[in-house]
Amino acid sequence: MALERTPEPELMDGLEQVRAYAAADFNDSDQAMCERLAELCGGDPGPQLVDLGCGPGNITFRLARSWPGAAVLGLDGAPQMLAVARQRSATQPELAGRLLFEQALLPLVDPGEWEGAFSMVVSNSLLHHLHEPAVLWQAVAQLAAPGAFVYIQDLRRPSSAEAVEALVVSQTEGAPEVLRRDYRVSLHAAFTVAEVEQQLQHAGLGTQLQVAPRQERYLEVWGRLGQAWS
Ligand SMILES: C[S@@+](CC[C@H](N)C(=O)[O-])C[C@H]1O[C@@H](n2cnc3c(N)ncnc32)[C@H](O)[C@@H]1O
Repeated sequence: MALERTPEPELMDGLEQVRAYAAADFNDSDQAMCERLAELCGGDPGPQLVDLGCGPGNITFRLARSWPGAAVLGLDGAPQMLAVARQRSATQPELAGRLLFEQALLPLVDPGEWEGAFSMVVSNSLLHHLHEPAVLWQAVAQLAAPGAFVYIQDLRRPSSAEAVEALVVSQTEGAPEVLRRDYRVSLHAAFTVAEVEQQLQHAGLGTQLQVAPRQERYLEVWGRLGQAWS
């Protein structure tokens, strides 16, 4: 029988949890994700990028560095995560003026000036945190400009508890206990490709965005919405 999903707490705002996450080395996987999205978007993300559930900004900073002509906004609901992102930002003044971090909790009740403003919408490892995954797809539709490129990566729920444990062993060897525990919880909270396909259908995005497994532990969603933004 397939492994049932067990949701986890949405926000990551515990001090120990935030510190452990911010100190962890996700360089290889973060770099691989950014290369992948650059390849899929054809190398041109447009002028305004948003990173949903940005945490301490691991992906957000990479986006800003990869595309010097773009303005980049990182959004997260957790003040402690944003505090780390802003501290890091202060040490990189060369990005000032085009890299911003703001607190925003999904669902976005009133996106205001952000509505339809972004030529690329990105998110890494947010979806599995959400108790109601539709809020991510709703935020994508709210924030994307016509023709925006969308790239979402997340963990993929393994088919059994044994497969979860095998990934915990292989992926978190030597990591602090808090990270190993969070990773296990996250794998149990993650969605399958079939579940995300259904989410996209319900959100009316099924014909514009596609979902596929990526490597042994991820799934990815990508595509371009509506007409060209330029
Ligand atoms: C696993 S972290 C990923 C951080 C970052 N994207 C990265 O790749 O390193 C998930 C982030 O999503 C945020 N988050 C969870 N639920 C959220 C919600 N409903 N609205 C906004 N942010 C949320 C958490 O606070 C946390 O910072």
